[in-house]
Amino acid sequence: MKIIGRFLLAIIYLVIFVSNSVDSVDRHNFKTCDQSNFCKRCRSMSKNQISPFQLVPDSVSLTDKYLEAVITNTKYEGVYLRMRLDGLRDSTLRVRINEDGKQLYNRFQPVHALASEPIPQSMTMARNETTIELELEQSTIKVYITIAPFKLIVYVNDELAMLVNSNNLMQFEHYRPKPESIPDNEVGSWEEFFKEHQDSKPRGPSAVAMDFTLYSSSNLYGLPEHADSFSLKGTSGNDPYRFYNLDVFEYELYNGMALYGAVPFLMGHGKKNSIGIFWLNAAETWVDISGVKSDADRTSVVESIVNLVSGSSVDKEVPQAHFMSESGIIDFFIVLGPKPLDVTRQYSSLTGTAPLPPLFSLAYHQCRWNYNDQKDVHNVETNFDVYDIPMDVMWLDIEHTDSKKYFTWDPIKFSNPVEMINNLTSKGRKLVTIVDPHIKRDSNYFLHNDAISNDLYVKNKDGSVYEGWCWPGSSSYLDFLNPKVQEYYISRFAFNNYLGSTEDLYIWNDMNEPSVFNGPEVTMPKDCVHHGDYEHRDIHNIYGLLQVMSTYEGLLKRTSGKKRPFILTRSHFAGTQRFAAVWTGDNIADWQHLKISLPMCLSLAISGISFCGADVGGFFNNPDKELFIRWYQAGTYLPFFRGHSHIDTKRREPWLFDKQTTSLVRDTIRTRYTLLPLWYTLFKTHELTGAPVIRPLFFEFPSEENVFGIDYEFMVGNSLLVCPVTKPNVQEISVYFPGNDEVWYDRDSHQPIKTNGPIKIQVPINKVPVYQRGGTIIPTKQRVRRSSVVMRDDPYTLVVAIGLKGTAKGNLYVDDEESFEYRDGKFVYIEYEFINNQLISKCIHCNTFNTNSWLEKVMVVGIPSVFTKASIHTVEGSTELSVLYSASNQVLTIRKPAVGIAQNWTITLL
Ligand code: NOJ
Repeated sequence: MKIIGRFLLAIIYLVIFVSNSVDSVDRHNFKTCDQSNFCKRCRSMSKNQISPFQLVPDSVSLTDKYLEAVITNTKYEGVYLRMRLDGLRDSTLRVRINEDGKQLYNRFQPVHALASEPIPQSMTMARNETTIELELEQSTIKVYITIAPFKLIVYVNDELAMLVNSNNLMQFEHYRPKPESIPDNEVGSWEEFFKEHQDSKPRGPSAVAMDFTLYSSSNLYGLPEHADSFSLKGTSGNDPYRFYNLDVFEYELYNGMALYGAVPFLMGHGKKNSIGIFWLNAAETWVDISGVKSDADRTSVVESIVNLVSGSSVDKEVPQAHFMSESGIIDFFIVLGPKPLDVTRQYSSLTGTAPLPPLFSLAYHQCRWNYNDQKDVHNVETNFDVYDIPMDVMWLDIEHTDSKKYFTWDPIKFSNPVEMINNLTSKGRKLVTIVDPHIKRDSNYFLHNDAISNDLYVKNKDGSVYEGWCWPGSSSYLDFLNPKVQEYYISRFAFNNYLGSTEDLYIWNDMNEPSVFNGPEVTMPKDCVHHGDYEHRDIHNIYGLLQVMSTYEGLLKRTSGKKRPFILTRSHFAGTQRFAAVWTGDNIADWQHLKISLPMCLSLAISGISFCGADVGGFFNNPDKELFIRWYQAGTYLPFFRGHSHIDTKRREPWLFDKQTTSLVRDTIRTRYTLLPLWYTLFKTHELTGAPVIRPLFFEFPSEENVFGIDYEFMVGNSLLVCPVTKPNVQEISVYFPGNDEVWYDRDSHQPIKTNGPIKIQVPINKVPVYQRGGTIIPTKQRVRRSSVVMRDDPYTLVVAIGLKGTAKGNLYVDDEESFEYRDGKFVYIEYEFINNQLISKCIHCNTFNTNSWLEKVMVVGIPSVFTKASIHTVEGSTELSVLYSASNQVLTIRKPAVGIAQNWTITLL
């Protein structure tokens, strides 16, 4: 009976999840702020109260690097908090507030998000009775701390930059014993119901909150993952932006509902400078935003300063953010810029940058739920060759396993995985398989048996193993917080444990929010318990990060640290970039979803996660051919480029529509392959500096207010302006060209555009509006082949786009594309400069890595017709080169310089 019941339940959940007949998200499955009692409590705090939190004056002490003080909550006698403010290197501050002394329960600190211990910077202190003044050495940063109430006032260069607790919304609910009888107004703090689910809240209220006013900003950005505009909107009258990693079926666009990932990083930008706030908390978090430019009720900065001086709350004037978390400690970093790229560098030095991905992962990926068997994989893969479309990676979704038991293969359909992988490898291709965190509760499954006998699962609050429903039916969930689980999971990826895997198999971690079909809000109950006696409530948003950390270690270890891992994850948190690429989950094959993929990836990119993409073509439903083509064109310019679709959709490999569709999809994928040297070089720069690989226009044009709200176009590095067509049936679109002193060259026609502002551009179906910025040089490879690996030794073509001053600059990074040897110096790094009609290749780092690639061609775009010859000068002497000039588009092509790419040389136009 029990078994039949379970079977029926499984069918019901599967029907709900696999069916795509529902048109949009079922909002009733997800909480509003009002239904999430702590959010309601924090949000209803009045800005007009005086904050009850005060420093104990005698408790203040300063070492040379940090200040410590005790904070009291004047509403509760005997409640003490300890505050620590650290000065950190590179214009960064960190504030932590926790309960002082012995606590009833430990408060969780998600240090996993941090790449390493932040580096301290000395501070000096001066104080009087009401205020403490701190000065961060080697910077222009001053912090004033008011004692009663506790507030922070941050100045950069003597200008007011940020206020903390300016609206008196700080909250810290200390743990307390459960009262015998709970007063009516506290019931929701001790127990909460949502639909049929009870959250028993055995530990009671534990929320923390803080408000921030970003004086120097006009717009706020970041806070991914939300399917919303890039520039954040005021939340008054709506729910705050929510962070609670969830598997949202057919998610809605343009609102702050929670999605699969949570990166609590907020960036503020104004004409003069940029700043950032990183709220390090892994519990459910809501963020209210106000005072942003789009808010109708915003008033002036002057008025707000008057308010500040008069001691009242700061109201509606300048951008403000109010972070509210259900548990954990108050732990936030303020990074003070001043330029956008400074902010991303400062934030990346905290949470890390993405290690250089293996080059194949920047090429095109082909996925589907599901490729049915080995033969199917083979047919699809060989058809890419037949249709002359390059492709690097085939993907296998859940059906490839033996009954949804990860790390296994369906014995009939995938009976010889090694042979299948080797067939792919022979063409330079790879395989990715899916490995989800839920484990099938099946006594014939080694993983489940190991988990039971070694106590590796997440527990219910009574200590029994938690059981939920996911793809395999009844499942339990590995507790990745437990070091023992981490060690075990890492070992699963060893070749002798994951049978059928090889070095050319990589991993997709999906459903890791974690998704639990029958759980509250489709996830794990908050009162489940993890290693260290933390509730799931405390760690929820890092569950996915913890899984990918172990997967990454597993992939590293299987080749003794030699080969770079590649992992794709759906759930993510701050710091995920150190381990995995991210995609935007289950989107829909419609134009709005294509359009939203740009701001979604931009928000992630400025929040540390550059390696982002969306399911090309749309996951649910069937795209028509126009949408399909436009989606491939847009996907070509996002960092992660993968076609993927739901099991119920029609097959849609690029040759299944008509000839024109195949040809246009082929063209755009081929363009991606020509640009791989640029993508690779940008990812290398990202690894070193944290610079986002794709970036919003304001990163390159920080004082041009017109671009602050633009999210329908973006830059790839500093050189390409991309404005994908995201509307059906249009003959022309408006492209905004930023910069006063800029020239942009159409990548197809090479025609220059010198206007600053919007211009109408004709967009027939074969047109992708992409422009190279004058003054830049980009490296390309023009001989496109079936996969990136077989292009490794191919020659390069440099595209030099002359700027208004007659100059241009660029760079190129080359290595073996797959190992970590570059970390031992085995790479090539070259800087190019065009000046005085000479193109100079300066090999900055060249002698430790041998490449067979050479320079095939140079295209100089935007050059007048006076040059008829060119010569190249190397250490071996000078040689004359033939050139071809096209007067119609002012392009000078220098053919066959034929020098090795890793050399110093100068080409002179004559
Ligand atoms: C959900 C993922 O978002 C989707 O991409 C995948 O195909 C299904 N799970 C099945 O594994």
